Amino acid sequence: MKRKEYTRRRFIATVSATSVAALASGAIPFYGKTNHASGKLAILGGEPVRKSKVWPAWPYVDEKMVEAIVKTTRSGIWCRIQSETGTVPTFEKEFASLMGTRFCVTTGSGTQALNTCVEALGIGAGDEVITSPLTDPGTISAILTSRALPVLADLDPESFQLDPDDVERRITENTRAIMPVHIMGQPCDLDRMMEIARKNNLKLIEDSCQTHLAEYKGKKLGSIGNLGCFSFQSSKTIACGEGGAVIGNDEELMDRCFTVMNHGTSRRGRTEMIGPKYRMNELEAALLLSQLTGARERFTRRNENARYLSSKLKGFPGLVPQKLYEGTDSGSFYIYAMTYNKEHFNNADRTKFLKALEAEGVSLTPYIPQGLHREPWVDNILNQKVYQKMFSPARLQKYRDELGCPNCDKVIDTIAMIWASGPLLGTRSDMDDIVNAIMKIHENRDKLNAI
Ligand SMILES: Cc1ncc(COP(=O)(O)O)c(C=O)c1O
Repeated sequence: MKRKEYTRRRFIATVSATSVAALASGAIPFYGKTNHASGKLAILGGEPVRKSKVWPAWPYVDEKMVEAIVKTTRSGIWCRIQSETGTVPTFEKEFASLMGTRFCVTTGSGTQALNTCVEALGIGAGDEVITSPLTDPGTISAILTSRALPVLADLDPESFQLDPDDVERRITENTRAIMPVHIMGQPCDLDRMMEIARKNNLKLIEDSCQTHLAEYKGKKLGSIGNLGCFSFQSSKTIACGEGGAVIGNDEELMDRCFTVMNHGTSRRGRTEMIGPKYRMNELEAALLLSQLTGARERFTRRNENARYLSSKLKGFPGLVPQKLYEGTDSGSFYIYAMTYNKEHFNNADRTKFLKALEAEGVSLTPYIPQGLHREPWVDNILNQKVYQKMFSPARLQKYRDELGCPNCDKVIDTIAMIWASGPLLGTRSDMDDIVNAIMKIHENRDKLNAI
């Protein structure tokens, strides 16, 4: 199948006029071959759609991984400085090659990888970095750690990604970089972001912490901007507990990333600049190396299952999968995210829908409780002497006045998602359970408000 057609069929769930009309008339539209398990809702005492509580487990563990840890433990080589051919340098070479970049520098977490980039690019006090409010706190932390100002731009409410127009509006004379987050493991509007960065002479740091192996226009996410960062925290689709990596092609810049990561000490053995100690250890890298081959197969399986789920939901306006931009070849499917439209569920709020679904044996959840523009760190930094010294009172007032991200607020309130690293490794029948449970609740939507 041609790439464009593949992308279209997989990802774009359009609300067809026929199904909207059918819903308006109260009839149940047909969404494919799935047999809807009808009958009483499980939460009201009926039979659940899915009897088994077991989904494919995550993190994934196999004997090869266990053996790799045992071998590294026995070797006594636990720290990267003990050997130039240990698991850390080997993983860095293999990961760079997998991502199609010349270089990789590992770190102890995704947050550390992002902060390594901020430091290596010389971004710090008095500088601003534009990023997303819909992300892990690590994204913001990586900017704050260098005492720069995270400026949060609003989202495209259908893709949950940064809105390039709002990014552009928020550029000031102090802006040094854009840190777009490829949220849910899907590409943001990267062409626009690159264009904005180029036009305004800004650096682009891809927060690819969720996007292992995903591709945009034939290139791996993380390999397209000036630098790209990954997380290998336990929940991620390539994982070692806590871990991270920076990838890039600019030798001098990647050399600086190494120096930052290595407490300011360069590959030449001289202590040259400010740098924390962000080294990955050999046990973490052993675990990562031992799962790389399998990770590719699991990535393919998640993509197949996601394509199947999206095809089953196509035309159903009650739950609309995340919109994907032209050029999206694949996603990591760390998360499979949808928008819950309550008007198609008898106006039942999301909590009731999720509770009813859980009783049917299928777990969808919200993402973070609120956008990061609504968390207390904002007041904390605005009241700190160091930020008051670095930025004028007028700039800090404008910052406060422009904090609002209404599209992000809407996304937070309506998202319903699967933590997909494990579940999307399931069988077709597992995927049918998800769709059947959703459709059963839709058929019984008139009962939802009684829950
Ligand atoms: C989008 C995003 N950015 C940054 C991070 C931080 O990575 P870590 O938890 O490895 O520090 C994460 C991790 O969840 C993430 O999902």
